[in-house]
Amino acid sequence: MPTRPSESKATGGCPVSHTDYQIERPILETYAHLNAEREEARFLWNDATDHGFWMINRYDDVVEALRMFEEFGNEQVNAFVNDMPANVLLPQQLNPPEHTRLRRMLNPFFSPAAVKRLEPLARERARAMVTEIRERGADDLTTGFALLYPTELFLALLGLPVEDGPEFLWRIEAIFGGLLKAGEGSEEEAAAASAWITAYFNEKVEERLADPGDPETDLITRILTHPVGEKMLERHEVLTVMSTLMLAGLDTTRSALGYIFYHLSNDTALRHKVTADPSLWPRFIEESVRLYSLIIEDGRLAKSDLDHHGLPIEKGDMLWLGLAAANRDPRKFENPDEFDMDRANLSHHLGFGAGQHRCIGMHLARSELVIALEEWHAQIPDYRIAEGVELRERGGQLKLMTLPLEWD
Ligand code: HEM
Repeated sequence: MPTRPSESKATGGCPVSHTDYQIERPILETYAHLNAEREEARFLWNDATDHGFWMINRYDDVVEALRMFEEFGNEQVNAFVNDMPANVLLPQQLNPPEHTRLRRMLNPFFSPAAVKRLEPLARERARAMVTEIRERGADDLTTGFALLYPTELFLALLGLPVEDGPEFLWRIEAIFGGLLKAGEGSEEEAAAASAWITAYFNEKVEERLADPGDPETDLITRILTHPVGEKMLERHEVLTVMSTLMLAGLDTTRSALGYIFYHLSNDTALRHKVTADPSLWPRFIEESVRLYSLIIEDGRLAKSDLDHHGLPIEKGDMLWLGLAAANRDPRKFENPDEFDMDRANLSHHLGFGAGQHRCIGMHLARSELVIALEEWHAQIPDYRIAEGVELRERGGQLKLMTLPLEWD
């Protein structure tokens, strides 16, 4: 068998991991592998891809590396891929100062106050969806409520018609299948889905140019009329920002709901506790984002040769900054594999990242999740996972492949 370049890398004595984190596994198995590798060594070289990457998995080391944006750049943001063209994801792939300028333009739309504006619609849509689902007595959460709900809210965030939601659902699946190379469809299907969505966004941009909205409350109008630094975004950049928000916001929220409902199905006492006192949902969600980190890693690209705590990093090497492993690091979190929403350092998790690229949508995600959980449990307080189903999780960026729920 030919040797891949990643297999012959000089690792300066650091152990080599062969674990392929892109493959589908039984539920929660990914975290077990991550825990084991975090404890095996402070750093590892992983040779499961052609290019290979350095793995940093301990909490303090991950936080340190996330802040080293001058040494570790965002040109590549996923350790599994080292050849993504520039400007496919904005603002992710930018570094300061360009990144800071774009974030400054976008941030006001994602502030807690701005998110509040969406809450009445979110509540109304969640309630209507749950009412409809309740009648059916069953829902595969992964492809049902947990996907439709964030899709509609994303459209609402951009000021687009929520009725267009179903047109997006399968296309988003196709794009993720191709992007993560996670065995869910081909790259051709992903490209076709992406082209359809870009054309759709372009049409909406044209409509806004002809009939602008209020740039304080209409996100597309703001992106079109607000300078980033000295200049306006070009059309292709506008479209990329829109599709990035979609890719970054939908799959994550859906996947978070999947793991949350999995947890609540298995812990009736906890479910009854939070249902009886909805003021507990925010703490519940924070602990869920820690324990079930969906974005298991942030990828970064080494910009120059560097001795990093003894690692012989070379310019062009990829780094894996292990958010999920760090979130279960016993050096930081007591009993890290247990769900404990009363832990003192609840908010120190890295589920939304850290440093300049910390999730722009985290307030929105929290609010969407609270509303979804409140509305669901108000109508369907008791439910169970259908018997006889083997639960599995996608690799790359975690999500449950299926979560069939039933209730009486
Ligand atoms: C539970 C839900 C979510 C989780 C767990 C999550 C997680 C993350 C993480 C870990 C990052 C950091 C990536 C990096 O450092 O390279 C990130 C960035 C980002 N997220 Fe989220 N996210 C969620 C929801 C959302 C939502 C709802 C939106 C928007 C609609 C969103 C938009 C973004 C964007 C645009 C970035 C890039 C920020 C930058 O590079 O400056 N996310 N997210």
